[in-house]
Amino acid sequence: MKKSFVLLCLFIPIFALSALAAPPPVPTTPLVVKGSKKEVMFPHAAHQKVECVVCHHLVKGEENFQKCATAGCHDDLTARKGKKSMYATVHEKTGAKHKTCIECHNKVVAEKTDMKKEMLGCAKSKCHP
Ligand code: HEC
Ligand code: HEC
Repeated sequence: MKKSFVLLCLFIPIFALSALAAPPPVPTTPLVVKGSKKEVMFPHAAHQKVECVVCHHLVKGEENFQKCATAGCHDDLTARKGKKSMYATVHEKTGAKHKTCIECHNKVVAEKTDMKKEMLGCAKSKCHP
């Protein structure tokens, strides 16, 4: 009895810690991200080779899996510039703390020029169908 109690005291914190550190399951269906004006399609499946932290950047030292426009984060849906701007968060070409969609898709298109419209287009593209 006493021994198992000691064991419990040892193990519960270890399990609690590993539960905190484990990333949530990756969404399996494409997400519709609410943007400033247009909706954005985001499929995790097409980004499997990219590490989570490239997009889910660190907040207070930990990868953050909240929605981009969570209150207090990129929650300005009208501004076109600045850290708070949801538009800038996905479209800025350089300088963000995380990789933006356009920043990385520009690189993809530099190699696969035939993909320009689908990877960077504002309409009838893969991002904005
Ligand atoms: C290329 C960028 C990118 C990568 C890499 C990425 N994600 Fe995401 N993830 C997103 C975007 C964008 C959203 C939608 C955010 C929103 O709705 O504001 C999202 C949403 C999520 C959500 C749902 C959040 C919610 O509350 O709806 C989870 C969970 C998640 N990602 C987990 C992961 C995990 C785990 C990994 C790594 C294995 C990962 N993601 C890799 C961009 C990425
Ligand atoms: C670090 C690089 C990187 C980032 C960041 C990134 N992508 Fe991508 N994305 C890719 C690559 C690579 C592909 C696959 C290109 C190919 O098919 O060769 C892709 C493909 C896609 C596709 C097409 C999927 C399909 O079905 O063919 C969509 C839609 C997309 N990305 C949306 C987004 C959105 C929205 C964001 C930002 C929230 C984002 N991506 C951020 C690298 C990135």
